[in-house]
Amino acid sequence: MNVLGIGGYSHDSAAALVCDGQLVAGVAEERLTRVKHQGGAPREAVAYCLEAAGLKPDDIDHVGCYMKPGFRMARRIAYRITQIPRSPIYSAVYAGYELIHNARYIRDMRSLCGPGAELHYMEHHPAHAASAFLVSPFDEAALLTIDYIGEWATTWRGKGEGTHIDALGSVNYPHSLGVFYSAITDYLGFMRASDEYKVMGLAPYGEPEYYDDLKKVVCMNEGADYHIDLSWTTWQSRPGSRHGYFSDKFIERYGLPRIEGEEVEQRHKNMAASAQKLLEDYVLQMVRALHAKTKSKNLCMAGGVALNCAMNGRLLREGPFENIYVQPASGDDGIAIGVAYQLFHEATGEPRSFEMQDARIGPEFSDEAIRAALDSSGLYYERPDDLETSTAELLAKGRIVGWYQGRMEFGPRALGSRSILADPTLADMKDRVNNVVKHRESFRPFAPSCLRERASEIFEGCDDSPFMLFVYPVAESWRERLPAITHVDGTARVQTVDANLMPRFHKLISAFEERRGVPLVLNTSFNVMGEPIVNTPEEALNCYRGTGIDALAIGDYLALKKGV
Ligand SMILES: [Fe+2]
Repeated sequence: MNVLGIGGYSHDSAAALVCDGQLVAGVAEERLTRVKHQGGAPREAVAYCLEAAGLKPDDIDHVGCYMKPGFRMARRIAYRITQIPRSPIYSAVYAGYELIHNARYIRDMRSLCGPGAELHYMEHHPAHAASAFLVSPFDEAALLTIDYIGEWATTWRGKGEGTHIDALGSVNYPHSLGVFYSAITDYLGFMRASDEYKVMGLAPYGEPEYYDDLKKVVCMNEGADYHIDLSWTTWQSRPGSRHGYFSDKFIERYGLPRIEGEEVEQRHKNMAASAQKLLEDYVLQMVRALHAKTKSKNLCMAGGVALNCAMNGRLLREGPFENIYVQPASGDDGIAIGVAYQLFHEATGEPRSFEMQDARIGPEFSDEAIRAALDSSGLYYERPDDLETSTAELLAKGRIVGWYQGRMEFGPRALGSRSILADPTLADMKDRVNNVVKHRESFRPFAPSCLRERASEIFEGCDDSPFMLFVYPVAESWRERLPAITHVDGTARVQTVDANLMPRFHKLISAFEERRGVPLVLNTSFNVMGEPIVNTPEEALNCYRGTGIDALAIGDYLALKKGV
């Protein structure tokens, strides 16, 4: 039984393939087309999944898609009609857009469906929930999904048992914590629906000065639901109007939005801190109510908001659940996994037999392909006897090294397949990595990859965090030794590296520890700002050549720049 899942369409399109209950391949379209957050039909991603499994289109039995088009269109157009008195032109344009979008979506999904396959449209939030629960280590779990908007739901709660998922309630548009956080992102001069992690990174530099007041914008109801006081917002009637997604009332209270490129002032930092605290406190309250209702020890989360690792860390520390699982691609791309598993279990009735412990389900390239790319690049390279130790020596000398190994990760994080590594003990390393390759905002922290068996010594409460989706406090005694990965609030977004799952990466970090005394390296994604993470060896070599990366460990080879 071969089931193809399609995630995303408005943005972050992706495909994943489940064969006989095993997840054999998955990739986001952006990595193949090189257009960040690429939407539309993920044709190249589908082609990759088929090729990786050695299948033809007519070998696919079922295709699952991430949204129910009729439900989405009916609800959204009906809502726009209610908004005609407030904004007639926008409402009419939006309704027309919905009709066109819907027709295109159906056409594109049909075009991805091979001759023998059955096409299924799945409901968005249950599919998000399935994308975490059905590949989690738990037989039963409470489920929480929070995003911008699905067909109509924006926040959804449920319970999973075996292969079965039950809904327990939802919050619907225009009430959306995801839209609120995106609107704050836009207000702070960053790109909505893309740069939310910048708000999260900025938050620890501020004080939650506006927290109490923002609770009048997003209001917690009795129990676990919330609503937005729409007098503060414009997204429900006319998004992107004069002051972004907030009304004149909001601007009078909090001041004009920051324009991109303007200085980040203290009030911006305070707004980020206030919004982050509000998000964390509200989700914590929701999670407590969900725990009381489900009595489960386990929680699975998905949706774009579940990528907020500062929030996730707090849920782990302060929330009632013993275990929390967030799938590495918890945004719309990862829904591809959810729909594929939902359909697989529905079609076969088989129990679960797969647990997603590893995000590396994307393209990989042979030794011949890597060597051919190196030869045609004209760059100097060697084949060291011990690549891991040679790389560790370079890192210990303060070099910045590209680390390109095996299959690409699914999801937004680089986890040791398409990474840039550096020494986390050097105080100037954050600025150096930023200056020579990443060119990103100075307030954003870099993350560590740490030997799994050593993580709990250094990061409080951290036993296992393979997907870098939880923030942990760095133990007081380690903070000064790890300036390049310790954020201003004393936390770090940790990846734990398991010796059995990632022997080469584990060996490299161990060799680094022998030289520098810390069992971790700084790990950031292998790309420059604004571009997707590199996929092919040629892309890795171009990024290496065009930036200040000192060396590149690619497959079994080590490319070195002059004087390194
Ligand atoms: Fe979503």
